[in-house]
Formats: sequence, C-alpha cells, structure tokens
Amino acid sequence: MLTLSNNARQILNERYLLKDNKGHIIETPQQLFKRVATFVAGCEKRQKDLFEIQFYKMLSGLYFLPNSPTLMNAGCKKGQLSACFVLPVEDSLKGIFNTLKYAALIHQSGGGTGFNFSKLRPKDEIVSSASGSSSGPVAFIKVYDAATEYVKQGGKRRGANMGILNIDHPDIEAFITSKSSRDAIENFNISVGISDDFMRAVVQDLNWNLINPRTKKITKVLKAKDLWHLIVHEAWRTGDPGLIFIDTINTQNPTPKIGRIDCTNPCGEVPLLNYESCNLGSINLAKMIVEKDEKILIDWKKLTKTIHLGIRFLDNIITLNHYLLPQIKRITTANRKIGLGVMGWAELLILLEVPYASDEAVALAEQVMQFIKKESFTASEKLANERGVFPNWNDSIYSPKYKLRNATCNSIAPTGTISVIANTSYSIEPLFALAYNRVGILGNETQTEINTLFIEKIKQLNLWTPQVENTVLRTGSIENIKIIPDHIKHLFKTSLDISWQYHLLHQRAFQKYTDNAVSKTINLSEEKTAEDVSKIFMTAWNYKLKGITIYRYGSKTNQVLQKCSLN
Ligand code: GDP
Ligand code: 5AD
Repeated sequence: MLTLSNNARQILNERYLLKDNKGHIIETPQQLFKRVATFVAGCEKRQKDLFEIQFYKMLSGLYFLPNSPTLMNAGCKKGQLSACFVLPVEDSLKGIFNTLKYAALIHQSGGGTGFNFSKLRPKDEIVSSASGSSSGPVAFIKVYDAATEYVKQGGKRRGANMGILNIDHPDIEAFITSKSSRDAIENFNISVGISDDFMRAVVQDLNWNLINPRTKKITKVLKAKDLWHLIVHEAWRTGDPGLIFIDTINTQNPTPKIGRIDCTNPCGEVPLLNYESCNLGSINLAKMIVEKDEKILIDWKKLTKTIHLGIRFLDNIITLNHYLLPQIKRITTANRKIGLGVMGWAELLILLEVPYASDEAVALAEQVMQFIKKESFTASEKLANERGVFPNWNDSIYSPKYKLRNATCNSIAPTGTISVIANTSYSIEPLFALAYNRVGILGNETQTEINTLFIEKIKQLNLWTPQVENTVLRTGSIENIKIIPDHIKHLFKTSLDISWQYHLLHQRAFQKYTDNAVSKTINLSEEKTAEDVSKIFMTAWNYKLKGITIYRYGSKTNQVLQKCSLN
C-alpha cells in the first residue's frame, strides 16, 4: 500500500507523473514507481522479475528514492537519469560556448552542472584574434546565468549551476562579490576553490599572489587575510560564496591518474572530473526502524538490505542511462561513480528521542554512516565479482587489492524534492521550523502549517491541546509552553537554535564515512557575526570537510536550490 502525503502528491502531479501532449497526467504514483522499477531491472541477466519486485517495494515503500531525473525520465525515450555533471570551461570563445550548449541540454533533461572557470584569462587581458580585451570569468558566468534562465526544462526543473573560481585567479575579488551586485547571478551557487596553501597563508598572515592562468605571471600581491575577510564578509552578508577545499577533495580522488578534480556538481556533494556525471539515491532513515518492547530501534537488517539493493539500482542506471554526449558516456561508464546517501536523519533522531544538538546524535551519525559505507562497498565489491570492476579500476587507488564496481559509492545530497516525496526531513539537516508558511506550489496561496512529526510526537505524549496548537502557529516556538517538558523542547530544537558547532559536527561525522562529499547548509540566526563565519570556515577546513556553505537568516540572496517550501 502506497501512502503519500498531500505535499508529495502535489509535487508528483506537478512535475513527476508523465503527461500526454495536452498536459493531462497519464500515470498514478504507483505506476511511476512501477515504470522506474521495471526500467532499472531491465539490465538484470538473472532473476529480472525478482529485482523488479524488490525495486518496486523499495521505491513504493519510500525506503529509497533516486535523484529526480531518474523518477522523471526512467523508461521514457532517451531518458537522461543523472542529477550531477561537471563540464570543462576552456579559455577560448569556442570552448566557452560549446560548453554552454552542453549545459543547456543537461538542464533540459533535469540535471545540474558544475564549472570551474579558473582557466579563463582575466578581465581586460588582450585577446589576439579579436584585437580587443577579454571579458573575464565573471562576465561569462553572467552569460551562462542568462542562458540558464531561458531554458526552463519543459516546466519541470530550472537549471542549477555551480560556479567555482580558484583563490589565486586574478579576478577572484570580483568573483567573490559577483552575487551581491544589482544584476546579480541568480542560477548559480558560487564557491571559491580554496587550497591548503591559501589556508596556511591566512593562518600565518602571509602575502598571497594572484596568478594569470595563461601567462603564469603574478598580477597582484595581497594579504591572504584581506582576501579571507572579503570572502567571510560576503558570505555573512549574502550567504555566498561557499568554499570548496580542493586539496582535501584531491587527496581522496579515487582515480588521480585519470585526472585532477577541479569541480563539483551544484550542491557540492559530488566532486567530478570533466564531463563526468553521477547518479544519486537516498535511503529514508526514518523508515529503517523496528519497534521492540515499545521502544524504537534502528533496523540494521532492513538497512543492510536497502543499501545492497540501492547500490545495485544505481549501478544499473549507469548501464541503462541515455548519455547526452559521447564524452560524458566515456568517462561516466569508465568510473561508474554513484552516490548513495540518506534523508530523514532528523526524523530518525526524533523517533529515537535523541536531540540533534547532542554528542549522542553525533556518535550515532558516525555509527550509521560507517555502517552505510561498509555495506555500500561490500555491495559494490559483490557487483565487481558478478559484473566486473569499473574500467578505470587499474588506474585507481583501489587496484590491485580491492575490487570494486564503482569508483565512488556514497554522497550526502540535499534531497530537496525527494524528501518531500518521502515525507521526511531533508538529508542530514535538522528540522528547519516547527511551523512554517507554506506557499502553494503554484504560488497563489499561503497557509501556516505545523510540522507533522512534531504533532504526532506531542499527540503521543498526550500534550496536544488547542493552546499548544495556537502558540506554535503564532510563535513557531514551544520555548514558553509550560506543559511541554524540557527534554521534548530539546528534542525539537530547530536549525537556527542549534549551534553552528553541532551543525558542523554532524557534517564531519557524515563526511568521515562518505567517499564523495556532504551537502549541508550551516544555518545561522540573524545576529551571528562575520567573526562567527570566519570561525566556521576555519573549523570546516580543520575538520577536513570538502566544502562549506552557510546561510544567515534574512541574508539577501536567492539561493539557486531553495529548500522546497512545502515541507
Ligand atoms: P532531488 O533528487 O530533486 O531531491 O535533488 P537534490 O536536492 O538532492 O539535489 C541533488 C542534485 O540534483 C544537485 O546537486 C544538483 O546537481 C541537481 N539538482 C537539484 N535540484 C535541481 C534543480 O532544480 N534543477 C537542476 N537542473 N538540477 C537540480
Ligand atoms: N557550494 C556548495 N553547496 C551549496 N549550496 C548552496 N550554495 C552552495 C555552494 N556555494 C547547497 C546547500 C544546500 C543546497 C540547497 O545547496 O548547501 O545543500
């Protein structure tokens, strides 16, 4: 039996269920899951029917969901199923506009693209063929941004991009402030590519050179600390830029002989080589439970089964996918990268009655993710025995001892839409609010709703009264409600009340056992200072995180990938 929330139904109706050419919906949610399961079991050589049934159960039970393009396009003609791509940006007009064309095709299919613009010569440098001067990376980002705006992806999904510029590029200062100007970039998340050398220069208060990528000449020398403060201040003011720790990423590159990694997908959870793509899927942790003696426990057996089936599902997609370009097909099928992650972490913690802002929760995060990593790798190893290792395996860090089917296995994605479909909390994020204004998907109605998880728990405790309901609707808080015991208040602490230290500890716990990366937003209350942001960024580097993004309540930018306002 498939039970979907109203929000899930609404999103599925709007964007996921197939429609005929008049725009009429022609499948039910059950049929959607059946379509996906049948297609993904299609490459099974033995027991195809059995896998189809198992995939269907896993999807319709909302135990695991793949990234949106798979739900939207599996089984359709030329169905492009991946969410994450990285494309190269070469220092030539032809290169820049070829890549823009490729990005448009990817956006049209529902995928997101990441670009590192650091190879582009700086603004105002002479361009010999044009007897003029170069526009520089920021201008070309604006061109990409405008193009993205006009490709609306058949009404399903707008384009989403990651733009990176390395910290030693001559145009880095203009890049850092590029999202705060009036003609701001709307369809990009931007991140500064930070090296360990730069971080050490900040710590030791040294000078920092900006270098022309084409001529290799130093164009400017400035204090590392001044550049750091510019980044920190902009991030504090607007939420952008984020940081990508490019050296940390490369120390864990599974195929260094194939190439260095310069870039990630739009939300940062997948570092990729040029033209590489990746498929994501997330396990709904809130469903991985069992009740014993009236206590809720993690169901490790069910989790194991879901991990093994999830890895197989994602590996099948690489075989069955429609690739938009031969370059994408080549590198993607040579590395076979997949990213199995989680959603519903905050919901699981609430079910287990462990507050997010506690050391117990952080320890449990490590235990859960370590388990997921171990079982994911076991599953990929089994697939290697059954189907062969990934073609670049000989050139990977796993050769010659550790046979694997996939160069990477795990990513923690934001699950912006699939967690709404699964009716659970986003990714590894804490609850954002107890009450929120829901803007209808068509943008024409707003109503205040109370988080259903909270209602259920309070009802269970016999504490649900009209007064509680009124107070939560009015204030969004339970702090001043006397009948609610302190431990329940602690359990329902929301994102802005949780210290940045605990946000980061959760990110670190999951990153420790994730071979790709973790997408997380460190939400801060409005009164947090630039000094706090500086400490957060520095701690993130010391924790060996691969990237970091903060968002201070009330800061001004339009984030590309807004948290879906339905949940
Ligand atoms: P979900 O599967 O739709 O829930 O997607 P996530 O929020 O988990 O995001 C995973 C990845 O999908 C992101 O890092 C992007 O690469 C891509 N993505 C997410 N949202 C969008 C979108 O609105 N448009 C496009 N083009 N790509 C997106
Ligand atoms: N780098 C990486 N991820 C980012 N996000 C937003 N901006 C950036 C950035 N510059 C991610 C958030 C969240 C999702 C909605 O987008 O961290 O997971």
